Amino acid sequence: MRIDDPRRNDLAQYDGLTDEWWQASGGFAMLHWLAAYRAGHIPPAAGPGAVLVDLACGGGLMAPHAARLGYRHVGVDLTASGLDVAARHGVLAVRASVLAVPLRDGCADVVVAGEILEHVEDDVAVLAEAARLLRPGGTLVVDAIAATRLAEVVAVRIAERVPGGPPPGIHDPRLFVDRRRLLAAADRLGLDLRLVGLRPSVRDVLAWRRGRRDVVRMRELPTTAVLFAGHGRKRDPAPPPGERTIGPARTVG
Ligand SMILES: C[S@@+](CC[C@H](N)C(=O)[O-])C[C@H]1O[C@@H](n2cnc3c(N)ncnc32)[C@H](O)[C@@H]1O
Repeated sequence: MRIDDPRRNDLAQYDGLTDEWWQASGGFAMLHWLAAYRAGHIPPAAGPGAVLVDLACGGGLMAPHAARLGYRHVGVDLTASGLDVAARHGVLAVRASVLAVPLRDGCADVVVAGEILEHVEDDVAVLAEAARLLRPGGTLVVDAIAATRLAEVVAVRIAERVPGGPPPGIHDPRLFVDRRRLLAAADRLGLDLRLVGLRPSVRDVLAWRRGRRDVVRMRELPTTAVLFAGHGRKRDPAPPPGERTIGPARTVG
């Protein structure tokens, strides 16, 4: 498919890919690797009621990780076929847009927004939903593709031609993410967010191609110019002005 084809990023494509979600070596293989990487940045649940909200959960690939870490896994997505698959893996499925999630403020201990920011017209609106859903101190994990020429070449022009690469047409580079804008928005939204680049381990990919590994480890990189992850925490709200203390608290005798 041409890079400027208007059918790119069409949600209907996912209906034809339902059987791919849980294929460890199919077109969604890298999503399995990313799910495992994300899980490494999520703390174990503090208690039995802890909630992980998975924005654009797709087929629910975070499910085994959320269960192992002790979370109730709530998945939000617009694609009914993907949500059905996710529900079969134990995800509490909510059919909705990530731009208007029908869940209450502060309900989430963890929000995951994996491979969704580069699929929507307004990535900052998704981040705002993540910030709204998180409780103060809650954990945010995102990953996405950067708005660079290099990312267009690597993640679309090359990756779509590689056997086992992403399904052709799934990405539209016009939607790739402006990292500076994302970080500025995170700060405004009360999120401490740190970005790091990601690439699959070359050694693991070779073993995976020979059928000797199911999951390829993701390696962190200093450059975020292609695929990047964001690790964040929602800041505690500032105390009202009258309650601010200047310097250490003192006891008056
Ligand atoms: C590349 S898949 C990522 C799935 C999952 N996060 C993962 O990493 O395995 C993108 C998903 O985003 C969903 N999606 C796209 N736009 C959406 C929107 N506005 N609201 C909710 N889901 C959306 C699609 O249905 C699809 O399941």
